[in-house]
Amino acid sequence: MVSEHAAAQILVASNRGPVTYALEENGELSAKRGGGGLVSGLSAIGDSDGDTALWVCAALGDGDREAVRRGVGEPGVRMLDIDPRVHADAYNGIANSVLWFVHHMLYQTPLEPAFGPEFRAQWASYEAYNRAFAEALAQSAGADAAVLVQDYHLALVPGMLRELRPDLRIGHFSHTPWAPVDYFRMLPDDVAEQLLRGILGADRAAFLTGRWADAFTECCVRVLGGTSGTRIGVHGLGADADFLRERSRRADVEERLVALREQIGGSGDRKVIVRVDRTELSKNIVRGLLAYRELLESHPEWRERVVHVAFAYPSRQDLAVYRDYTAEVQRLADEINSAYGVEGWTPVVLHVKDDFARSLAAYRLADVALVNPIRDGMNLVAKEVPVVSDEGCVLVLSREAGAYEELGEDAVVVNPYDVMGTATALHTALTMPQEERAERTKRLAAAATALPPSQWFLDQLRALRA
Ligand code: F6P
Repeated sequence: MVSEHAAAQILVASNRGPVTYALEENGELSAKRGGGGLVSGLSAIGDSDGDTALWVCAALGDGDREAVRRGVGEPGVRMLDIDPRVHADAYNGIANSVLWFVHHMLYQTPLEPAFGPEFRAQWASYEAYNRAFAEALAQSAGADAAVLVQDYHLALVPGMLRELRPDLRIGHFSHTPWAPVDYFRMLPDDVAEQLLRGILGADRAAFLTGRWADAFTECCVRVLGGTSGTRIGVHGLGADADFLRERSRRADVEERLVALREQIGGSGDRKVIVRVDRTELSKNIVRGLLAYRELLESHPEWRERVVHVAFAYPSRQDLAVYRDYTAEVQRLADEINSAYGVEGWTPVVLHVKDDFARSLAAYRLADVALVNPIRDGMNLVAKEVPVVSDEGCVLVLSREAGAYEELGEDAVVVNPYDVMGTATALHTALTMPQEERAERTKRLAAAATALPPSQWFLDQLRALRA
C-alpha cells in the first residue's frame, strides 16, 4: 500500500514496455503482455490511494509502430514512435554495444572499444532518443508526479527532465551492474561525464546491490568530484513467490515435466544440471558448457548418470556478436554430445526456443542449477529455482552475480572464469547429501523472496517521496 500522500501520478519510463504488438497476416494487431519485476511492481499501485500510473516506453518493432499510428494502446501505456534509425543507433549501437559492454566488462580490450566517428554519430542518436523520452515525460506528468526512469538506455533522461520540469520527483534505477571506475573511464571523458550527470539529475539513483551502488558513487567522485546531493539507494529485487508457486503447478508445466523427463532418459535416476538464460554474452554459457565437459572428463563416473539441460533463449539477435555467441553455444553443445553421447544418453539437452512453462518444469526437476554469469545485475533465475524446486536444488552461483550478496552463503560459489573450479563445483553440488541440499534450498528460497517485486517497487516510490 502506498500511503501518507495525496493521490498522485506515477510515471515509469523504460525502453521495453509491458506490452508489444505484432501485425498479423489479416492486418490485425495482436498484443503480447510481458512479465518481469516492473510489471508486477507497477500492478501493486493501489487504486484505493487514487494513484494513477503511466508507463512510457519505446515502440520496438513494426507492430508497435503500427499500434501507435492506429492509436491502439493499453490503458496506462504510452508508446513513443521514435525514428527507427535513431532508435536502432541508441539501442543497438550505444545501449547494447557500449553501455552493456562497459557495465558487464565484456570488451576484448586489445582491439575494442575504439570510439571513432561511428560512435559519435550513434551517441547523437542516444541523446536524441533520451530527449524524446524526457519531452514525453515532461508533457505527460502532472504537478508533483513521481517519475521512475529505468536502466542504461535512459541514463540521460533524469538530467534532461529535471531541466524541463524541476517540480518532478525523479528516480533512476539501474538493473545492470555498474562498472568499476577504471573500466568506466574507457568511455570518452565527455560521454562518461554526461552519463553520470544524466543519472545525477534524479533525486535518487538506485541499484540492485550495494556493490553496484558503490561503484557508481566512486565513478561520480573520481570523474565529477561527488554525487551532487543525489541520494543513492539499494533495492534487491526478489522473486515473486506466490506467482511462481502457483504458475509452476499448472497443467502446461506438468506436461513439460513429462517431456523433459523423457529427453533426460534413464530410469529416473539421472541427475540434472539446469541452466536457463537469455543468450546473453554476460551469462557465460560457453564456459558453463566447458565446465560440464570437464566434469565428464575428470569424473567419468558421471557419464550416463547426469544430463545438462541448457535453455539458451534468443536475445538481441540484431547484433552479430550475439548471433556468433549463440552459434558457439550450439556448436559446443553438439561437440559434447558427439564426443560423449551414447545410445540412450544425450549429455546436453539444449533448447533455444523461449518457453516459460518449460523453464519452470526444469526449475522443478533440477538437482543443480548453474548460474555462472561473468557479471550480472541480480540474476533472477538464481532466486526463482529454489522457490519452485520440487526436492531441493543445489545452486552453483557466480560470485559476480548481484544475487551472490543475498544467496552466496547457501550456494556453491564459483569464479565464472575458472572452468576447472566450476567443474569441481558441479561435482560438489551433484554429490551434496539430500538433507543438506534441502536445508540450503529452504534458506535460499527465504532469502530469494525477501523483497517481492511489489514491495521492491513501492519501497522505491516511498524513498523517492521521503
Ligand atoms: O537484465 C537487465 C536488463 O537491463 C533489464 O532491466 C532489461 O529488461 C533488459 O536487461 C534489457 O533487455 P532487452 O535488450 O532484451 O530489452
